[in-house]
Amino acid sequence: MKFYQWLRTGRLWFSILAGCGGAAPLSAQGLPPQNSDEEQVHMAPLPDALVLANGTRVTTAETWTRERRPELLELFRTQMYGRAPEKPAGMTFETRGLEPAALGGLATRKEITVFLTGRKDGPMMTILLYVPNAAPKPAPAFLGLNFYGNQSVDADPGITRSTGWMMANDKLGIANHRATEKTCGAQASRWQVEKILKRGYATATVYYGDIEPDHPEGWKTGIRAALSKDGAETRWKDDEWSAIAAWAWGLSRAMDYLETDKDIDAKHVAVHGHSRLGKTALWAGATDERFALTISNNSGEGGAALARRDFGETTAIINRANPHWFCRNFHRYSDNPAGLPVDQHELIALMAPRPVYVASAEQDKWADPRGEFLAAKNAGPVYALFGKTGIDLAEPPPVNQPAGDFIGYHIRTGEHDITAYDWERFLDFADRHFKQPH
Ligand code: GCU
Repeated sequence: MKFYQWLRTGRLWFSILAGCGGAAPLSAQGLPPQNSDEEQVHMAPLPDALVLANGTRVTTAETWTRERRPELLELFRTQMYGRAPEKPAGMTFETRGLEPAALGGLATRKEITVFLTGRKDGPMMTILLYVPNAAPKPAPAFLGLNFYGNQSVDADPGITRSTGWMMANDKLGIANHRATEKTCGAQASRWQVEKILKRGYATATVYYGDIEPDHPEGWKTGIRAALSKDGAETRWKDDEWSAIAAWAWGLSRAMDYLETDKDIDAKHVAVHGHSRLGKTALWAGATDERFALTISNNSGEGGAALARRDFGETTAIINRANPHWFCRNFHRYSDNPAGLPVDQHELIALMAPRPVYVASAEQDKWADPRGEFLAAKNAGPVYALFGKTGIDLAEPPPVNQPAGDFIGYHIRTGEHDITAYDWERFLDFADRHFKQPH
């Protein structure tokens, strides 16, 4: 069992407790304690999304857009995800693969290399894009990062394999951080490529390791060092970009490409992501208003879940286990999440008035499903300024019953994963907002 899975099941804490004869749970790795008992939850009061730093209450959409939104965005930037640079002036795209009859004729497959600084020997990422052949063009699209290479999203043998650094995975035989044959189609159930295409949407993905390998030293061989004048010797300032900000930046660069593709309706692109990549999708949706819709799947701590609720993963744990995910300033809040001037309902509110969807899973306690619901619900007052309804429920809906209007939410049965059920809900939500505008 992987360390994370161990944490997710709570077995780590159980074994530590047992080992310490019931003393306070401190792991061998020195990870801070964690609560998975709803009765024991503490939650500090949430900051009010509608009160400016100077104490003035925001009562109009106009003041939100002009004053409060930029203020909150800047707080998330400087205190949590870090400040990312602009798009490099010399960036270029090259379509290297084009197959008009992919997936048995269902779609046109394109592979686009993005030379992020324009240099052919510089940092690059590859977009895999399927456009539905039967649907009217330009087609609305879904865009998300993947964990195990573009080849992992579908068994289509024509996909060029991502070969760079890859997260270790016993099941996929990845022991030395190199892609294996087993990655091909390995996450197809999470991507549901055919289902998406048959509903008339294009689907695009990029391997997140193309942008930055996911480990504390990963930035040295990723885009962050490539764009810094000191390269791998850079000493990051407290508010400079983190790995999550770098991945989100990569999504914006993929969007730059989609805007140039005549087959794509760039005004209707949904950005989505699972788990750490769900945190990334939320940050991409917050920072880049070209994303017309944002989907967070099981994103948990540092994503859709409230930091002020001490249930499941905490700020202290995430910073300890993944020090590279957030900017340096965020580490100041490890022992005091209530000191953070923002919380995640405000991140979700940054999408307003664009539709946003938060998906939880019943057994994914580590991600704190209730904390995800409460964040989504508490973004509602900002949507109300725009005359839009969020989630009209005091308590989470029953399992497998989607709720909400401009803020969508469901909690499905099962584990930390993305399933066909989740995709059906995302597609319904996108249909509702893209195809029948209110
Ligand atoms: C770990 C981590 C989570 C993260 C998840 C993932 O479980 O603690 O914050 O969401 O990994 O990305 O798979």
